[in-house]
Amino acid sequence: MTLLRWKDEYSVGIAAVDHEHRELIDLINRLHQQLMASDAEQTVPAFFGDLLAGISAHFALEEKFMRDQGYERLAPHKEDHERLLDELREIMDAFEQSEEVDAVELSHRLDPWFTRHFRTHDAELHHAIGTHPH
Ligand SMILES: [Fe+2]
Ligand SMILES: [Fe+2]
Repeated sequence: MTLLRWKDEYSVGIAAVDHEHRELIDLINRLHQQLMASDAEQTVPAFFGDLLAGISAHFALEEKFMRDQGYERLAPHKEDHERLLDELREIMDAFEQSEEVDAVELSHRLDPWFTRHFRTHDAELHHAIGTHPH
């Protein structure tokens, strides 16, 4: 199953940002598919490690952009990033002993965060100061 499906509510109304967020969602789905593959070399801890790394990389890029631009709402935005990373670490600990990931539970925890964060913090940021260079 697909862990996360792109939906209109994810859109911040700027194509370049939506594109990046789609790539993030694709990455998450790809990692999950690798985990599900029967000949998986990907274990649950490795899956969460890669998931965390992929999401952190996206956050780091945004935070650098906000710092470089002197964006005034950096602190609450970064706090919301930290909130998701903390939650992921918690989920990771809970799954550590098991050999499979409950995809439904995981998507139910990720999806509301993405929906809200993209529409609030990310939309606000990118409408205020544009998009970061790649
Ligand atoms: Fe973002
Ligand atoms: Fe963000």
